[in-house]
Amino acid sequence: MPTTQPSPTGSSGQELELTVKRIADPGEGIREIALVPADGGKLPAYDAGAHIRVVLPGGNTNAYSLIDLGSDVENPEEYLLAIRRDDAGAGGSKWMHELAVGDRITARGPQNDFPLDDGEAPALLLAGGIGVTPLVSMAMALARGERDWQMHYAARSAAVAAYADHLTGTHGTRIALHRDDEAGGPLPVADLVAAAAPGTHVYVCGPRPMIDATRQAAEAAGFTPERIHTELFDTPEPEAGDSPFEIEIASTGQVFTVPPGLTIIEVLEENGLDIVYDCQRGDCGICQTAVLEGTPDHRDVVLSEAERAAGDVMQICVSRALSPRLKLDL
Ligand code: FES
Repeated sequence: MPTTQPSPTGSSGQELELTVKRIADPGEGIREIALVPADGGKLPAYDAGAHIRVVLPGGNTNAYSLIDLGSDVENPEEYLLAIRRDDAGAGGSKWMHELAVGDRITARGPQNDFPLDDGEAPALLLAGGIGVTPLVSMAMALARGERDWQMHYAARSAAVAAYADHLTGTHGTRIALHRDDEAGGPLPVADLVAAAAPGTHVYVCGPRPMIDATRQAAEAAGFTPERIHTELFDTPEPEAGDSPFEIEIASTGQVFTVPPGLTIIEVLEENGLDIVYDCQRGDCGICQTAVLEGTPDHRDVVLSEAERAAGDVMQICVSRALSPRLKLDL
């Protein structure tokens, strides 16, 4: 989740003062950072799929998944993060890459928007690029249990496939590695989902096309929504052709214009409304808002095709409008 976002409102966990203990480079352009409590105290427990939000200079935050390579997650001695450097991004990843051993940072969390379900059905893990980080922890959690599971890890090349050696060395044949450059194309997620055993839960973390393809395949194969688990690793970008639209606040009658380049949440906050949200990537569902009138332009990865078609709810952190005005139940 390496996206730069304003500090979220609500559900962001406790504030942590941390010191960089160790730095490594597990893949080309990827920096691994181990963090320990700055005051020598204890770190909160976490479970697979959880993240912390690192506070950047200026107050924005970046969310990074906590990586469990086989530690005691109930009493963690350190938090391990992996950050892919994104030179085209807002600068958060570059700042993270410049941290040195001994540097002190502030973070919030841990929080988990991408937890493993607590059933016994098989689990299919699909990782794309640096989206592997929460799934490394899920693989470790699954390996501690009795449940059947399989993981497919796609990366552009071996050079950028962080943690591939750890995964295959720890979990053996449960891990299948896919190199886009050697395979001549992306991981065939639709085939993998279609071949999954009945009742399987699918967990996918990676770029948006991978998540969309997985969701579509899972819905086509009859997966119920609670068996489809997604986490996005892309930064939402304005799309070419975005145009302004109006939002009407049902409770007050206020009308605001959302220009291209700003989200509904950003416009609401600029106008003094207090909105609860977290990921700001359209994949946690916390900002979901009922639409009373108008047609949303859905850009999230939360809603099913049926929910998109119904158009009566939307994720206001990323989605926009196909109609000139949306009336929102706020
Ligand atoms: S804040 Fe997560 S979906 Fe909008």
